Amino acid sequence: MKDFGSDKKNVVQANLDAQKIAFAPIMFQAAKSLRNLGILEYLFNNDKASIETIATELNLSVYGVKVLLEAGLSLEMVYLKDNEFILTKTGYFILRDKMTNVNMDFTQDVNYLAMNRLEESIVNGKPEGLKELGNWDTVYVGLSELPEKIKKSWFDFDHFYSDYTFPEIMPILFSNKPRSFLDVGGNTGKFSLQCAKYDPTVKITILDLPGQTEVARKNIREAGFQDRISTIDANLLDNSIPLPKGFDIIWMSQFIDCFSLEEIETILKKTHEAMTADASFYILETFWDLQKFQASTYSLHATSLYFTAVANGNSQMFHSKDIIKIIEKAGFVIDEMHEMIGMSHTLIKCKKRALQLNNSLN
Ligand SMILES: C[S@@+](CC[C@H](N)C(=O)[O-])C[C@H]1O[C@@H](n2cnc3c(N)ncnc32)[C@H](O)[C@@H]1O
Repeated sequence: MKDFGSDKKNVVQANLDAQKIAFAPIMFQAAKSLRNLGILEYLFNNDKASIETIATELNLSVYGVKVLLEAGLSLEMVYLKDNEFILTKTGYFILRDKMTNVNMDFTQDVNYLAMNRLEESIVNGKPEGLKELGNWDTVYVGLSELPEKIKKSWFDFDHFYSDYTFPEIMPILFSNKPRSFLDVGGNTGKFSLQCAKYDPTVKITILDLPGQTEVARKNIREAGFQDRISTIDANLLDNSIPLPKGFDIIWMSQFIDCFSLEEIETILKKTHEAMTADASFYILETFWDLQKFQASTYSLHATSLYFTAVANGNSQMFHSKDIIKIIEKAGFVIDEMHEMIGMSHTLIKCKKRALQLNNSLN
């Protein structure tokens, strides 16, 4: 008999968990249909209801409501009492919880078809699933051209997590009264606009790919901040492009996870070259090993596979140790580390490592 080491799960549970995996895409669609067709909403508004009542009220077939609600029993989204269905807490999360809905829409609209090519992506080292969305090398190049529904789900997912961090981050970033920021991978300008509103004099430059800076420029104009927020179009995968110099803070939020470890090392070395000894470099990331809740670690492990099959084929949600090693290798020391910012982020403040005095001078 094989020894499973410290795996103490009993066989009945292990078998059930294996079936959950085997049928996961089917059951995902059932959960989404229960949400989208209004069945969960109906059960939220009514303490309990029979299949026939729900079918009549929602103008659906008895057959359709029946198969979905029976799947809902196994999904533990509903339970059955005296021939009537009642919503569970899990069902409520699927119906109302913002994070769950952002994750489900991202899974459906951005990833569902693409994930069929995960194996191919691993074997070829390329995001083969991206073909389902468009003809680009990485998703970032095509972001602004994505069909509206897919684009909305991508941006909702991206912004949902970083937006939560802003209120906690601002006092930390502005504690030393920085005069200028470089927001690398600043996307549509959400963070930079927050900074400009928070501090009346700070000047910010957003560096990103042209599709994103074009949207950022529109948002900056509409908010009336053209005098304090500017943009640079650049592809940081082009090794001939340095980072611009002269900023008090270089900021990378949810940015380094867009690259492989080798690419991150190159980008961090460029960052080091662009900084004076007084400047600070901040990284805001979600590390799967630093999560308080299993739900967050689970979400991050799943998100990694989006990077594999859709985004670029070579990045992921990292373990903190992988990144700390590169930060140090690129010539930085970690000055501060703030865990559990927002829901699941870690904020790392880096400074340039002081030059060692040459022994021959002593
Ligand atoms: C996951 S988003 C993060 C956006 C924002 N900083 C946030 O925290 O919500 C990554 C950003 O990095 C940009 N990006 C990805 N690859 C890039 C590259 N090679 N050069 C410049 N920007 C890039 C993307 O266009 C995108 O705006």
